[in-house]
Amino acid sequence: MGNLSRRRVLTLGAALGLVGAVDPSRAWAWSSSNSIAAVDRVTDPWDVWDDATDPLVASLLKNGQIPAVNTAFDSWVKNSDALPGGLPAELTTYLQQHNALPSWADQKKLKLGAQFNKRLGTYMFLLYGLGSGIMSTVIPREARNVYYSAGGADMKSRAAKTFTYGYDLAAIDAFEPTGHFVVTSNKTRLTHAAVRHLLPQSPAWRAVTDDGARPISNGDILVTFHSLGTFVYTKLKSWGIRMSVAEEEAYLHQWQVGLHLLGVRDDFIPASWAAAKQQSSYALTPIMGPTPEGIKLAEILLGLVSEVDRGLTKGILNEFTRYVLSDKVGDWLKLPRDYAARGLIQTGWPAFVAFKEGLTPVMPNTFATFDQLLRGIAMLFLNNGTSPTYTPITIPTGNRPN
Ligand code: HEM
Repeated sequence: MGNLSRRRVLTLGAALGLVGAVDPSRAWAWSSSNSIAAVDRVTDPWDVWDDATDPLVASLLKNGQIPAVNTAFDSWVKNSDALPGGLPAELTTYLQQHNALPSWADQKKLKLGAQFNKRLGTYMFLLYGLGSGIMSTVIPREARNVYYSAGGADMKSRAAKTFTYGYDLAAIDAFEPTGHFVVTSNKTRLTHAAVRHLLPQSPAWRAVTDDGARPISNGDILVTFHSLGTFVYTKLKSWGIRMSVAEEEAYLHQWQVGLHLLGVRDDFIPASWAAAKQQSSYALTPIMGPTPEGIKLAEILLGLVSEVDRGLTKGILNEFTRYVLSDKVGDWLKLPRDYAARGLIQTGWPAFVAFKEGLTPVMPNTFATFDQLLRGIAMLFLNNGTSPTYTPITIPTGNRPN
């Protein structure tokens, strides 16, 4: 777990709204009695990978079968699509077992979750984009894995593929036969298994990986979930966005099913937001920190957003990122300061949210600026999801070439 001091961890946890961060020197002690599986045991998720998927994908890679699998996957998009023909028999058998919702999935909750996503979509796109997306660059293992994998060399395409996942999750029919999310999750799970096989063969990755551990353990995936779902939920609450208890549970349920589909064991999946926040304080906050790779990735990602920000200054993007992630994270990433933009955000954003949520009748004079910010980021997501250049997720066959 990194070398953050206890004080720094607590301060950062509070700044991100993920209160109660745990001393980084303390071992994993999150009990699975608070998980979907509700079993009373403590297991370290950093020692758990994906036994059902990893050997299969490793063998497909060794036998040179992945390019043909990717081609066959082109026609496999909707949850109700039949499995494509021409796949290796063992992959077909695997998908017959895994291409389904878990027995505990609750369709009613998933439907409500989809409506909730739609209702708060613009806030979510902003938080996922400028919050979670940039936070991923200060999660050292994730930043290095992304940087040295094949996708790290072409971040525009990689970001587009990641948007595909977010777009498919946010769709109103995400978990229904017409939706795409179950298929997209399976493709992502197979992609992660490929990365586990490929990255350890990268000399550049090995040179910066101190513990030599196989990448993308269950622990790593939980960390990423907290940088996405737990972070977004916590921020929405702290901004005073109204959500019913049923909506809160439904939003969590979408992520619970999403984690299951990515191969996370049910005894690690938090059963409530309280359990998720507690797990996040063990898993996410103590490990955050800057890396040269993460700094480069953040610069590229913010550059991509500014391409479509409809004329907004880069200062607003940088400062909004600082505002949602803390100045500590902004300093780590060396995001340039724009104190005028910060002043505008500090007072203008709460007023904007209050007006939009009907908590005050007074329209702030900064309304147009923030409305444009929300629309610009939402367009970035939605264009990717609906344009003819929709970017399918493909399983990599190599690492970053340079
Ligand atoms: C690929 C989502 C966790 C590292 C992908 C892709 C998606 C995705 C949609 C396919 C798009 C692409 O190929 O770029 C997720 C989600 C996660 C998660 C939703 C957790 C909730 C992680 C973690 C790591 C990681 C924890 C590393 C520590 C990677 C890498 C690739 C990838 C290296 C492949 C990039 C490439 O070579 O093209 N992930 N991921 N992911 N993910 Fe994840």
